[in-house]
Amino acid sequence: MSVRLDIENLCSAGQGALSLLKKAAEAALLTEGVQKEVYVHLLLTDDDGIRAYNREYRGLDRATDVLSFPSVPYNPGVLCSAHPEWLDEEYDIEAGACFLGDIIISMPHVLAQAKEYGHSEARETAYLMTHAMFHLMGYDHIKEEDRQQMRKMEEEAIARFLPTPEEEKMLEMAREAMTFSYSPYSGYPVGACVKCSDGTFYTGCNIENASFGAVICAERTAIFKAVSEGKRSFEAIAIASHTSAPWPCGICRQVMNEFSPKMRVLVTWDGGVDAAPLSALLPHGFGPADLTKDG
Ligand code: THU
Repeated sequence: MSVRLDIENLCSAGQGALSLLKKAAEAALLTEGVQKEVYVHLLLTDDDGIRAYNREYRGLDRATDVLSFPSVPYNPGVLCSAHPEWLDEEYDIEAGACFLGDIIISMPHVLAQAKEYGHSEARETAYLMTHAMFHLMGYDHIKEEDRQQMRKMEEEAIARFLPTPEEEKMLEMAREAMTFSYSPYSGYPVGACVKCSDGTFYTGCNIENASFGAVICAERTAIFKAVSEGKRSFEAIAIASHTSAPWPCGICRQVMNEFSPKMRVLVTWDGGVDAAPLSALLPHGFGPADLTKDG
């Protein structure tokens, strides 16, 4: 599955917002289980722009946050995942993908709404984009039960790439742990915070050595502190650095896989945040169970 966003950026949205919109679109498709190549036309505009579309297509002469126009007219209660073949009729040879529909977002509206609801601009952007994507896949929120199902799908999609409020705290603990980094040789400080399944947290930093082979990464410092106090199961790890996304090195992935192959990995650097399951970072991982298999 991959999604192509044809973005018409009429309001000078920045790179951060554009990459977030793409991740939101991908996460919504993954959550719905859509396997096909699809493309979406996304118009980013302001309140005057969206008001004109709202007036023209819905007879409502007012600004709003987001509008979506699905290419497949799903009946109420019918979802994209139940009829993936309907998308085939929207296949566009030039695009090499199926057209899912149009989305219009007023970015200034999104930013104002984030302030009003007291959450981050990233969360509001992610929410509105996944909301629109699920509309394109047949979801609506007219009946209460449908609204709840749509909310559940949106949250599941958003959790794929944005930290939860608790994970935000873990990222903060990882940033603090980074301040203790001993990294005179690389000049690359890293901090980590692991959450154990019993709800406790352990932090760690990278510790370097004049004998380079003795270096330990921040992730293993945190995990080994936890293991040496009796912990064997982990839910998530947050990792912080300054300059680039600190996805864990191969050895750290292997150590995580030993204890909790399903754990979640979050990274933060220079204003950026990303998340992935360990299974995506270490596919076909070798673990304790492999030693007990025959042959
Ligand atoms: N480092 C970590 O702490 N975690 C990783 O997953 C990758 C690398 C540290 C080790 C070393 O101190 C520095 O980053 C440069 O490799």
